[in-house]
Amino acid sequence: MDAKNVLLIIAGGIAAFKALDLIRRLRDRGITVTPVLTKAAQEFVTPLSVSALAASKVYSDLFDLTDEAEMGHIELSRSADLLCVVPATADLMAKMAQGHADDLASTLLLATDTPVMIAPAMNVRMWDHPATQRNLATLVGDGVQVVGPVDGPMACGEFGPGRMADVPDIVAAIEAALTDGPLVGKRVLVTSGPTHEPIDPVRYIANRSSGAQGTAIAAALRDLGAEVDFVTGPADVPPPAGVTVHPVQTAQAMLDKVQSLLPVDAAVCAAAVADWRVVGAADEKIKKDSKGTLPTLTFAENPDILATISQGKNRPRLVVGFAAETENVLDHATAKRDRKGCDWIVANDVSPETGIMGGDRNTVTVIDENGAEPWDDMPKADVARRLAARIADALA
Ligand code: CTP
Repeated sequence: MDAKNVLLIIAGGIAAFKALDLIRRLRDRGITVTPVLTKAAQEFVTPLSVSALAASKVYSDLFDLTDEAEMGHIELSRSADLLCVVPATADLMAKMAQGHADDLASTLLLATDTPVMIAPAMNVRMWDHPATQRNLATLVGDGVQVVGPVDGPMACGEFGPGRMADVPDIVAAIEAALTDGPLVGKRVLVTSGPTHEPIDPVRYIANRSSGAQGTAIAAALRDLGAEVDFVTGPADVPPPAGVTVHPVQTAQAMLDKVQSLLPVDAAVCAAAVADWRVVGAADEKIKKDSKGTLPTLTFAENPDILATISQGKNRPRLVVGFAAETENVLDHATAKRDRKGCDWIVANDVSPETGIMGGDRNTVTVIDENGAEPWDDMPKADVARRLAARIADALA
C-alpha cells in the first residue's frame, strides 16, 4: 500500500483517549495521521500529546489565519485519503447529518468528497435515541462508513451498545478502507423498491417493500469499489450516495431502464416488482357512479425482469435474484432459481410475523448451484455486506 494519509478528527468524549493508541498503531503501519481536535476534545486529550504521537501539527481552529493562508480547510480534508472521526459523539454525528459547518471539524467533514469513517461512542441511551438512530441512517445513506459501537460496560456505569469499537478493529477498518476495493472497475446493477402500477392518475397498486435491502446492497457494492447503477421504484428509504440513481415507477419502466444499462458485470434484482399491471389504466380519475356499479380491474402479467436478463443475450456474468416467500421458502426459492435462470437466489420468509418487509433485519438463505446456505438473522446492512463480498469473490 502506498503511504496513506488519514485526517483524524477527535471529538469530545471519554473515548477520546483511545485515539492516542489509534494514532500510534496507524503510524506503526506507515499511515500518516493529521489530527484535528474539536474544542471539547481538548478537555479529554491535550493537543501536545496528540501532536507528539502523530508527529504532526494539531489543527483545531477554523479561524486560524496562518493555516488558512498556508493550507485552507478545503485543502486539509482533500489531501487525506480518508477522514476518520474517533470517537464520533452524538453531537458531531448530528452536525454531520445536518450539514453544519460551525467549527473546523464539521467544516472539514462538509467540505470533502473523500471517504469518511466514524467510530461512534456515547451513552447507551444517547445511542438508542431515535434522533441518533435517524442521524446514523442519514450518515449511512450518505456513504459514511460506521465502525461499532459495541456492547460493553461504559465509563458512565451503564452497559449496552454505545461503547467505542476496540482500537484494533478500527485500525482494521481503516486499513480495509484505504485498500482498493475488490469491485473497482466492475459495473453492477441493482433493482430495488416496489413498483407502482397505475389504476388511474391518482390510484395505483403497490406492495410493502421499503427498498431497505436493495439500498443496503447498492451501498455495500459501492463500498467495495463497484460502479453501481441503482434502478429503484418509489421506495421509503432514500437511495445511497455515490451510486447512479435511476428512479422508475412501473415494472415495464424498470425493465426498459435495466435493459438500457446492460451489459454489466453483475445484476442484483432486489426489487419487489408488481406481478400484474392494470390493463387500460384510466387517463382520468375513475368516478363512483350513481347506481353504485363497482369498477372492474383487468390485469395483465408484467414482464419478469430477473428472468429476462438471466435469459437474454446481454446476460451479466452473475445474476442474483431474491425470493420473497411466505411458505415452503426453500422449495419455492429453488424452483424460482431454475425457472428464472439466475445464478443465485437469496430466499427470505416475508410472512408478516417475521417483520422483514419494512424492518431492518433479515434472515436469508442463499441458493446457488451447490445448494442452500442459510445465514444467521442479521441487520439488512450486514446481509448486504456479506452478499457484496460473495459477489466480489464470484467476479474475481
Ligand atoms: N422479479 C422481477 N420481475 C418481476 C417479478 C419478480 O425481476 N416481474 C424478480 C424480483 O426482483 C426477485 C425475483 O424476481 O429477484 C423473485 O421475485 P418474487 O416476487 O419472489 O417472485 P415472483 O417471480 O413474483 O414469483 P411469485 O409471485 O410466484 O412468488
